Amino acid sequence: MGKPLEGIKIIDFTHVQAGPACTQMLAWFGADVIKVERPGSGDVTRSQLRHVADADALYFTMLNSNKRSLTLNTKTPQGKEVLTKLIKESDVLVENFGPGALDRMGFGWEHIHELNPGMIVASVKGFSEGHHYEDLKVYENVAQCAGGAASTTGFWDGPPTVSGAALGDSNTGMHLAIGILTALVQRSQTGQGQKVAVSMQDAVLNLCRVKLRDQQRLEAVGYLEEYPQYPHGEFTDVVPRGGNAGGGGQPGWVLKCKGWQSDPNAYIYFTVQGHAWDPICDAIGKPEWKTDPAYTTAQARQDKIFDIFATIEEWLADKTKYEAVDILRKYDIPCSPVLSMKELAEDESLRKSGSIVEVPHPKLGKYLTVGSPIKFSGLQIDIKPSPLLGEHTDEVLAGLGYSDAEIAEMHEAKAV
Ligand code: COA
Repeated sequence: MGKPLEGIKIIDFTHVQAGPACTQMLAWFGADVIKVERPGSGDVTRSQLRHVADADALYFTMLNSNKRSLTLNTKTPQGKEVLTKLIKESDVLVENFGPGALDRMGFGWEHIHELNPGMIVASVKGFSEGHHYEDLKVYENVAQCAGGAASTTGFWDGPPTVSGAALGDSNTGMHLAIGILTALVQRSQTGQGQKVAVSMQDAVLNLCRVKLRDQQRLEAVGYLEEYPQYPHGEFTDVVPRGGNAGGGGQPGWVLKCKGWQSDPNAYIYFTVQGHAWDPICDAIGKPEWKTDPAYTTAQARQDKIFDIFATIEEWLADKTKYEAVDILRKYDIPCSPVLSMKELAEDESLRKSGSIVEVPHPKLGKYLTVGSPIKFSGLQIDIKPSPLLGEHTDEVLAGLGYSDAEIAEMHEAKAV
């Protein structure tokens, strides 16, 4: 069976993480993604944080699989000519240059639309068009601070904290992929391309939706009952950092298990789901709490929720995180061990499902990557190695109709 995006040609002008994460996913789904890179150096992540001399860094290989690489200096006349030809026969151009770079290159939206009215031009920027910060260059943590994630993450007595998850980068790329697929569907109805834009600030904010919910509740009533500050602490007029509190109506916390003194990840996340109160009492050996009015309702438990967590921690003291979860799962209690990257890398279930994949690479030997988190019943996703710099330059140029002599001339002129 063919891949769903087969026949869709994408000019991939992306670099670092936000754009590459988007185009990599589209390549997995079958698009022909041609990564356009500056001759000599390519995407800056090829050489950032290398662990094998002269081999592409994992930062690059893990975000650029299944693509082809074309080196092209788009600031030379030949480079511009090649890009013009490519635009005429492609479906999508994706870029995450700094603000204005594509216009300065001579390939603004009007020009591209004129060359190919069906073309979809998809961009990631730090801030949206017209925003008072639209001129700023932005990286991951900048976006997390600008989008509300940092001010609401961490502990109340510590500074704003960024997440280890790439909420600014890969998350923005995933939003952009949805936008591109939507524009492709619309093009099939109208024949027209369009601009698709996602700002990193907006993509982070979209994931902080519940914190905007909390801001409005706070303004209305002056407190947030699911935060650790309630009822014994203080609220100001902004959503506070809530540590590890559950974000919805179910209180939860990260709890210590056997070995926490030496293992930084010997913890579980434990959720006190309202309707699971009786099984929780049975599981932790506190059957008397099932009928004690001081504990039977969520509201009654609220002012002593940390005492309850302390009691659960006492129960956990002689159990590893895995043993604890194995007991709690029998009672249908939402919980999970806190898993380290090492544990995830070695997890057999993740290997079996294709969520962690071992990829062969000509210079690295092999490396692990995160496979598609989206599983299809009718699509098998094969993760191929990322391309070497310029690996497909001649092949792409020949496909555009250039002769061997013309290709050699372009190499000579350092246009490719
Ligand atoms: N040939 C010739 N020139 C090329 C080229 C090519 N193949 N590819 C890129 N360039 C040029 C661009 O034209 C631009 O030149 P100009 O500034 O003279 O117009 C330059 O290289 C790239 O600029 P820029 O994208 O601003 O790179 P940077 O390293 O200064 O900034 C970012 C990096 C990530 C901060 C910036 O690209 C950015 O803010 N992007 C938008 C948000 C984003 O995606 N952030 C990163 C998420 S991981």
